[in-house]
Order: sequence, then C-alpha cells, then structure tokens
Amino acid sequence: MTDSKIFRRLTYGLYVISSLKEGRINAQIANTVFQITSAPLIVAISINKENLTHEYIQNSKVFAVNILPVSTPLEMIGHFGFKSGRNLDKFGEVAFKPGQTGSPLLTSNSIGYLEAEVIQSTELSTHTVFYGQVMNTEVYSDEEPMTYGFYQQLKRGTAAPASPAAKSSRSEQAEKAESIKKENLIKEGPTMQKYECPVCSYIYDPEKGDPDSGIEPGTAFEALPDDWVCPVCGVDKSQFQPVD
Ligand SMILES: Cc1cc2nc3c(=O)[nH]c(=O)nc-3n(C[C@H](O)[C@H](O)[C@H](O)COP(=O)(O)O)c2cc1C
Repeated sequence: MTDSKIFRRLTYGLYVISSLKEGRINAQIANTVFQITSAPLIVAISINKENLTHEYIQNSKVFAVNILPVSTPLEMIGHFGFKSGRNLDKFGEVAFKPGQTGSPLLTSNSIGYLEAEVIQSTELSTHTVFYGQVMNTEVYSDEEPMTYGFYQQLKRGTAAPASPAAKSSRSEQAEKAESIKKENLIKEGPTMQKYECPVCSYIYDPEKGDPDSGIEPGTAFEALPDDWVCPVCGVDKSQFQPVD
C-alpha cells in the first residue's frame, strides 16, 4: 500500500532555477534540488518537461540554483512558480545579473547561488532529472534559507512573514483588504466584488463561484467559508486582495 501523503513529510528547500536559450532567459521555482556528491560537486534537479525552463536547460546544458531566504515574499514564489515564461518575461521587473554560465542570478531575495553545467540527465515520466557539475558559487548572506514547509505555513497564513518589511507591507495590505470587505458588507451586504490570490493570481469571481470546491455561482467572497482556500495554489482566504 502507498499513500502520497508520506511525501508531505519529506523536507525541502525552495529555489529559483534559472537558465537561458539563444540569448533569452527564464527561471522557475523548484523544491527538488539535492547534492549528489561532494567531490566532484554534483547536484541534481528534477524539472517538469512541460516547463519553459526545461526547454532552456536542455538546450544550453547549464542552470543556476538561486537559494531563497525565509523572508521571500509569497508573490515572488507565485511569480516564478505559478506562471510560465511562455506567457510573460519573468525578469522584466526582477533584478538580476548574468552568471558565468549566462544564467540569470537573482540579486535580491537570494542568499546565494550555484551555477552548474549539465553532465548527465535521466528522463522519468513527466520530469527530467538533470545532474550538474557545479562550476561557480557565491554566498550573499547568512539569512536562513526558505524551506518548503515554511512556504506552506505562509500560504495557510499560519506563519508570519520573516522580514519586518514584508510583515508591515502584508499587514497594511491585509488591513486595507479587511476594511474594504467590512465597508462592502456594511453598505451593501455581500457584494459581487472579485478577489485575487497574491500567489498564483487566481481570481475569485462571485458570479462563477468555485463549483469544484462546492461553492455555488452567485456566492459573494465575504460569504465563503473561513476554511475556503485558493483552488489553484491553496492560499488561505485571508490573503486574498480585492481586484480594483
Ligand atoms: C512550491 C513550488 C515548488 C515547485 N517545485 C517544482 C519542481 O521541483 N520541479 C518542477 O519542474 N516544477 C516545480 N514547480 C512548478 C514550476 O515552478 C512551475 O511549473 C513554473 O510555472 C514553470 O515555469 P516555466 O514554464 O517558466 O519554466 C514548483 C512550484 C512551486 C510553487
């Protein structure tokens, strides 16, 4: 007997894997980064074949692993982890510098990176495991790395964002959203106001409801049960923001 819930007991970090192809750059979130050997220094990453980053790594045979700090905002994880470079330029508004391999290296929300050249790969069903020989590294800071577990807590609203800046901007946003919700309720009762998920940009549209989660069309956001979560990425209801 197997139960995939056991996978939730495995521990991981959270990384932005970047690469390039013919002068274009892209990156994605991955938790599957692990050291294989220390002499030589070899790491492995497991990348979904459908991702643009997969196409780039397969083509250029290089990648970088940017290590996220515990203070990384959810929005940043959403930007690299729930959107594809096929639909937007992910580095349009994100600070980076080119690495020795040409892969983009984050210059904020990163505590360091390693760059690697692919020496071997294994195709396994939906994913390719790329093995990379590390050829360049840099440590930016001693800040604690983000873990997959902490990211899950942030999404559920059960952990406070680690950085004071993130904390205050999130609490200001939460207060603003809360006051708009209250105003709407007092003035008009439940409204047809749309709300957006800060991580994956899913929009809750009251006209459509969320039938897959048992929410009927016509259900106002304010009337959603407290335990309702984003149907795409699982973010807690309290994190949603009204759409202007
Ligand atoms: C927390 C988290 C962990 C993820 N881990 C992986 C992973 O290990 N491997 C992978 O291929 N995709 C992973 N993803 C999904 C990719 O980041 C996502 O599909 C991304 O949109 C691909 O972007 P691209 O098409 O621009 O390459 C993860 C996403 C999140 C939010």
